[in-house]
Amino acid sequence: MCGIVGYIGTRPVLPLLVEGLRRLEYRGYDSAGVAIAIDGVLAVYKRKGKVRELESVLPVEVPGTVGIAHTRWATHGAPSDLNAHPHLDATGRIGVVHNGIIENAAELKRKLQADGVVFVSETDTEVLAHLIAGRPETSLVEAVRAALRLVKGAYGLAVIDAARPEAIVAARKGGPVVIGVGDGEMFVASDASALMGHARSVAHLDDGEVAEVRADGFTVLTLEGAETTKTTLELSGDAAGFDKGDYAHFMRKEIGEQPEAVRRTLLGRLDHRFSTAHLGGIELAAREMLDIRRVKILGCGSAYYAGTLGAHLIEQLARIPAHAEPASEFRYRNPVIEQDTLYIAVSQSGETFDTLAAIQEVKRKGGRVLGVVNSVGSTIARECGRGVYLHAGPEVAVVSTKTWTSTAVAFALLALQLGRVRDMSAGQGARLLSALSALPDQIAGIVAREAELAPIAARLAKAEHAYFLGRAAGYAVAMEGALKLKEISYMHAEAYPASELKHGPLALISAETPTLMVLPDDDLLAKNLSTIAEVRTRGGPVLAITHPGVVTEGVEASFAVPRSEPELDAILLNVPLQLVAYQVAQGLGRDIDQPRNLAKSVTVE
Ligand code: F6R
Repeated sequence: MCGIVGYIGTRPVLPLLVEGLRRLEYRGYDSAGVAIAIDGVLAVYKRKGKVRELESVLPVEVPGTVGIAHTRWATHGAPSDLNAHPHLDATGRIGVVHNGIIENAAELKRKLQADGVVFVSETDTEVLAHLIAGRPETSLVEAVRAALRLVKGAYGLAVIDAARPEAIVAARKGGPVVIGVGDGEMFVASDASALMGHARSVAHLDDGEVAEVRADGFTVLTLEGAETTKTTLELSGDAAGFDKGDYAHFMRKEIGEQPEAVRRTLLGRLDHRFSTAHLGGIELAAREMLDIRRVKILGCGSAYYAGTLGAHLIEQLARIPAHAEPASEFRYRNPVIEQDTLYIAVSQSGETFDTLAAIQEVKRKGGRVLGVVNSVGSTIARECGRGVYLHAGPEVAVVSTKTWTSTAVAFALLALQLGRVRDMSAGQGARLLSALSALPDQIAGIVAREAELAPIAARLAKAEHAYFLGRAAGYAVAMEGALKLKEISYMHAEAYPASELKHGPLALISAETPTLMVLPDDDLLAKNLSTIAEVRTRGGPVLAITHPGVVTEGVEASFAVPRSEPELDAILLNVPLQLVAYQVAQGLGRDIDQPRNLAKSVTVE
């Protein structure tokens, strides 16, 4: 989705804006641009394509110290130089960068055109620039507030006025905006990751707030004009997460970072004395945990699939009925919200609109929601108010890998904690604690054997369609494995519960359709081997991710992961599938870190 960066201070602004745009590249975009205030006018550079294309038209040096920049993901108007942001008013003084959609843009545009305003782009954003310019008699922040009161829709935006370069004005309704605080300099961004290494702390704007950001501080007002107080959060995190180092792709780097990510997810949360986990952020007393009758997990895409595994863990370990559901569908079916159900929202970015809307639906009906979130201080984390941070570090590749694994580990911790206040014995708890502690080294061992996965990847790469099958927790792994392959190789991969195969999809099994079986050595092994036999009888090639010692007769290629405890095996079985998807996509020459049509965080409906 689109990205915003803005800077006001004493340093030359252009390199800072370009660096910020590079940090935001991972979100997915189709054009980029900057506007810098210099001597009362805006110097504007915009290009369709990547930031490197924009850089090719930028002057080596530009004197300004105030500016805004944007990466655009087209909604209104095709990707083009003209439709790229920033958008200006007729005088070229006011510059606007905007994430989101102005729903009444057509109506506002007609009115402006009737007053003689000439539009140069097809975007909804340009309307904002003209509306703001229509009130030169007031301060910039007043003009922005007045303009936004006319607007319906969603926005995160930043505005500058070359004639009054003492402030950048930022506003939020639906689209995330953070204000970064530095030493004698301030930043604005749609994502705190753009500011790492520069800002010391950040303040997150809430919906309906407008900020006047000056080099020496900032003031926040509501759209109606009431002043609000913001607290700032220290901007922790490692800017190195944004550097590919020697890796060809962030995805491969992040697959390799999983041992460290899992260590951080576990850090300080293993309670050996009572053989349990301790997740302080969930703020649930033992008594409240006992009162939970049901758990409902909400997330989108990979977050939903990690939540599916989470539901399985909670049901198995804590014996509480648990179920995961796509957050994107939840609010459309007027869901029943129950007092004794614990709702859990899962999100890497913490900014996914559909997940946020699901949380708001639960809260509106009086339900309580915990967040399982990677991005500290993100909208979803703040909306939930309590939960579990993954601490997996920044995930830059569009597709999620390390955060899937860390989410699964966070759910294992939660299931353990809920289980230990219920029927789980201390012995069971201790068994799981030691299995959790072993995961990082086991994951590192799998990643080190990536070359062994080449036969599986090569067989999949030859096909147009593939099935991924698994039972119980293995089905969550199959769903995630198929999604990874789809997203980065553009190959059609479909996940099915293995037991459903004979209820329809078996008709499609042929020599051209490989089936990848998630085949743990558990009490469902015999059933899974029967499914393999059914596929083989129809001439279908079978590939398997399995455990050492499992006899895989008739299987074309297989890979064995080390055993964990049966409840946690799924976490390890998923890792080879990330590497398989990576290898297939690499073989096909795909744009692995920024697959076509996809964005890292989907902040629109
Ligand atoms: C899959 C992927 C997406 C996200 C989904 C939710 O690789 O990246 O399916 O998992 O858009 O994103 P978050 O977790 O940020 O809410």
